[in-house]
Amino acid sequence: MTDNHRFETRTIHDGYEDKSHHNSLAAPIYQTSTFTFETAEAGERRFAGEDPGYIYSRLGNPTVRMLEERIASLENAEAGLAFGSGMAAVSAVLLNLVKSGDHILCSEGVYGCTFGLLKMLEEKFSIDHDLLPLDSVEQIRSAIRPTTTVIYIETPINPTLKLIDLEMIVSVAKEYGIQVVVDNTFSTPYLQRPLEFGCDIVLHSATKYIGGHGDVVAGLVAGSKDAMTSIAKSTQKDIGGILSPFDAWLLLRGLKTLPLRMDRHCSNARSIVENLSSHPRVKKVMYPGTETSPSHAIAKKQMKYPGGLISFELNGGKQEAQEFMNKLKMIKIAVSLGDAETLIQHPSTMTHAVVPEDERRRMGISDSLIRISIGLEAWEDIWEDVLQALEA
Ligand SMILES: Cc1ncc(COP(=O)(O)O)c(C=O)c1O
Repeated sequence: MTDNHRFETRTIHDGYEDKSHHNSLAAPIYQTSTFTFETAEAGERRFAGEDPGYIYSRLGNPTVRMLEERIASLENAEAGLAFGSGMAAVSAVLLNLVKSGDHILCSEGVYGCTFGLLKMLEEKFSIDHDLLPLDSVEQIRSAIRPTTTVIYIETPINPTLKLIDLEMIVSVAKEYGIQVVVDNTFSTPYLQRPLEFGCDIVLHSATKYIGGHGDVVAGLVAGSKDAMTSIAKSTQKDIGGILSPFDAWLLLRGLKTLPLRMDRHCSNARSIVENLSSHPRVKKVMYPGTETSPSHAIAKKQMKYPGGLISFELNGGKQEAQEFMNKLKMIKIAVSLGDAETLIQHPSTMTHAVVPEDERRRMGISDSLIRISIGLEAWEDIWEDVLQALEA
């Protein structure tokens, strides 16, 4: 890790040394399942950990390792790990940290499949959880049980884009010796670095902004060397949700333009928010960058910019929301985010359909709520498409 370089430089160089790879400018893809040993004794030494070489790609692969080193550098972590999906990363981290009888304290809104995983942990392994706004020290203190081992946060929360104050969470968690895990998918390390606030583990669905081109499903984790070694040797190795070398290469390539892309996503989002907010069909705009947002002060404290996602409610309900979406011409209806293309989705019938209705209401996900992932197109073209759909 060349920690004397700035973030933008590290997205391009860290984790890869061309001189060790025949001076190839682009990182090579080590598309191999296994690695040969010169002798039986050399194999024995490798298994004993006396020789640091590679053994088998589920246990480590050079292209994947480059990516793991790069994400560690960008998150200011000691080490990183790569997984075959964001959910493989979430499950590997949680299963590594908890055991039957433990309790997980979660931010009120979590990604739908993370919610599904929490339910599964509860039903099959008696690992309880509570979903709470986590917006005051008193509330967190009163929710902590003797069995609470993890505070699991998404910030911004999907899809309401409320923020959680990382500094406040860490101050309480440290008192009780609880691990803080942050899903940093929506922010990326360019906008927010939770480990710098004292959080213990940060993870990503790298499918989103980190890949950035809608062509890979992947997960990344970063934290202390001890924490990453523990996950690598347990839930990564034995459950096996690893990333392929080719997908690691796609992410290494995507990361090189992360700062440029994020600048554009964020400036486009600002322009769309300004226009959307004053349209008479729009009931409410949720974006942590607006001065009226309850999360504005936290955004200023912990994020470089408030991100490229916007949620908004139309007057009316599900029917009005779906009619609006069906009238869009350029913007694609799809449940991902962070791609070059602007993508729009309807959380109550798509990403959060698995969340029971009363829970959705509590989280602030109404039937007219729409989430839009602002892409890299000219913002005027994005706005013209939204406007014609609002007025059609
Ligand atoms: C915040 C967040 N975390 C985790 C995931 C899961 O990631 P993946 O789809 O790469 O498994 C998603 C997917 O949308 C997400 O939005």
